[in-house]
Amino acid sequence: MKFTFAKPGLAETGALVVGVLLESKLTPGAKLLDRKMKGGLSRAIKASRFKGDKDQSLTLIAPAPTKLDRVLVLGLGKAGDIDGLRMQAAGGRIYAALGSSGLGQAAVLVDAIEGCKLGPAEMAAEIAFGARLGSYRFDKYRTKEEKDAKPSLKAIGILCEGSAKARAAFAARNKVADAVFFSRDLVWEPSNVLYPEILAGHARGLARLGVKVEVLGEGRMRRLGMGALLGVGQGSAREAKLVVMQWNGARRKPARGKPARGGKSKSEPPIAFVGKGVTFDSGGISLKPSGGMEDMKWDMAGSAVVIGLMKALAGRKAKVNAVGVLGLVENMPSSTAQRPGDIVTSMSGQTIEVLNTDAEGRLVLADALWYCKERFKPRMMIDLATLTGAIVVCLGNEKAGLFSNNEVLAKRIEAAAGQVGEHVWRMPLDEAYDKLIKSEAADMKNISSGRGAGSITAAQFLQRFVGKTPWAHLDIAGVSWSNKARPTAPKGGTGFGVRLLERLIANHYESR
Ligand code: BES
Ligand code: MN
Ligand code: ZN
Repeated sequence: MKFTFAKPGLAETGALVVGVLLESKLTPGAKLLDRKMKGGLSRAIKASRFKGDKDQSLTLIAPAPTKLDRVLVLGLGKAGDIDGLRMQAAGGRIYAALGSSGLGQAAVLVDAIEGCKLGPAEMAAEIAFGARLGSYRFDKYRTKEEKDAKPSLKAIGILCEGSAKARAAFAARNKVADAVFFSRDLVWEPSNVLYPEILAGHARGLARLGVKVEVLGEGRMRRLGMGALLGVGQGSAREAKLVVMQWNGARRKPARGKPARGGKSKSEPPIAFVGKGVTFDSGGISLKPSGGMEDMKWDMAGSAVVIGLMKALAGRKAKVNAVGVLGLVENMPSSTAQRPGDIVTSMSGQTIEVLNTDAEGRLVLADALWYCKERFKPRMMIDLATLTGAIVVCLGNEKAGLFSNNEVLAKRIEAAAGQVGEHVWRMPLDEAYDKLIKSEAADMKNISSGRGAGSITAAQFLQRFVGKTPWAHLDIAGVSWSNKARPTAPKGGTGFGVRLLERLIANHYESR
C-alpha cells in the first residue's frame, strides 16, 4: 500500500471517503460533498439507518451528479471521543470496505473537527497507520486465487491541512507497522519452514540495521548448564538455539567529572525482552490432542514480537540500550524426547521435575530469563510467551495476562497498552500460589497440584528465575492469533506486543 498526503479538496473521480459524526452531523468535507451532490448525501443518510455511529458506514455507488465511482461515508461517533485509536480503526475500516472493491485507489478527506482532541494532520497519520495495519496479508504460499478475491486497492491519498506534518508523523508510525508485519509473518509461517535455526536466521537479519546478534547452539547451552531448555528440545531433530540481540542506542554517559572519551564512558544497563520461541509445540510425550494442534505453529509468537520490537527500535534508532533473548526449540515426541518424571537441572542450579512435557514454555524461559539476568543485569526484564491455555479461559482473545513483581513497571505497561489498544489485565502473584509447584523429588515441578490457577502457577514458576530484577510476564496465548478479523488486524497472526512495548520504551526508557 502506498500512502500520499496532499492539501484538502474534493476528489473529482474515483473513490472518496468522508466522515460523519454522531447524529448524522456532517464534517466540513462531507458538507462540501453534500452541496456537490445537491443534498444527495443527506438524503442517502436519511434513507438509511446510518447515523454516524463509530462502527457504521454507508457506501454510495456512482452518486449523481458527480463523476465519483464511489463514496464511503464513515461514521466517526462523538467528536469528543475521537482519539488516535478510533482514527486507526477508521483507517482499518476504510481498507476493509475498499481493499477488494475492485478500485485501485481512494481519496480520504480529513478536516478539522470541532470539539476533537486531534488536529487534521494527526488524524490523517493515524488513519493511514490503521489502514496499513489492516491491509496486512500473508499470501506467500498462495499460487492461485480467484481474481475477485484479490486485493485491488494499491494507494490511499489523504487530503488534509498540514499534509507535510501528517506525512512525517505517518513515516514514523509506518516503521512500527513494518515491525508488526514482520512479526505477523513469522507467526504465520508453518513449522516445516520455520524451525529454531530459521527463526534465529531471521533475528540475524537485523544485523543489517545495526543490531548485534549472537546465536548459541546446543553445545554452548550445555556448557552454560541450560538443562531445562535443552530437555524440551531433545526430542526434536532440529537443534535448539538461543538468540541474543543487542541494540545499543543510548547516548553514552561521560564518567563523572571527566569529559566523554571512548573507553572511559559508562554505558547504561539495558532493558531486556525475552521471548518464548517454541516453533512447534506437539506437547512432546504428553502429546496434545490432534484437534487444533496446528495452532501450535505459533507457539513462537513471543519470540516473533521480540524480533519485531528490536526491528522497530533499530529502525528508528531509538536512544535506548535494549536486549532481546529468544529461547528457540521444537517440542516433539521421539525416542530421545524428555519423559514425564524426568528431573532436569536449570542454569540457575535449581532442579525441576518435569511432570508434563507439554508445560514446556516455562522450562525454556527458565533458562532464557536466568541467562539474560546474569549476563546483562538489566534495569528491567519483560518476557512474552504463549504460555498457557488457562489465560484464554480467563481473558479470552481480548486481553493478555500481565504478571509483575514491580508496581511501577506494571503501571507503565498498563498505560502503554491503553494507548496503543493492545490490552492487558493484571493477574496476581502470591506465595500461596508458589506453594502449588513444590515437588516431592526436586526443587519444583513444572505443573501445579490441582487444576486451578494454571496461568498464575506458570508465572510463579517463571518468577523463580528472575531474582530481584524488576520483571513482567505477558501471557499472550489468547491474543497472538485472531480467528476474527478486526479493523487493524486481519485474521491470523496479530503481532500483539510490538506496539505496546515500542510505546512503553518511547514513554519511559529513552534518553533525550
Ligand atoms: N503453548 C501452550 C499454551 C497455549 C495454548 C498457547 C493455547 C496458545 C494457545 C503451552 O505450552 C501448553 O501446552 N500449556 C499447557 C500447560 C499445562 C500442561 C499445565 C496448557 O495450557 O494446557
Ligand atoms: Mn505446551
Ligand atoms: Zn507451548
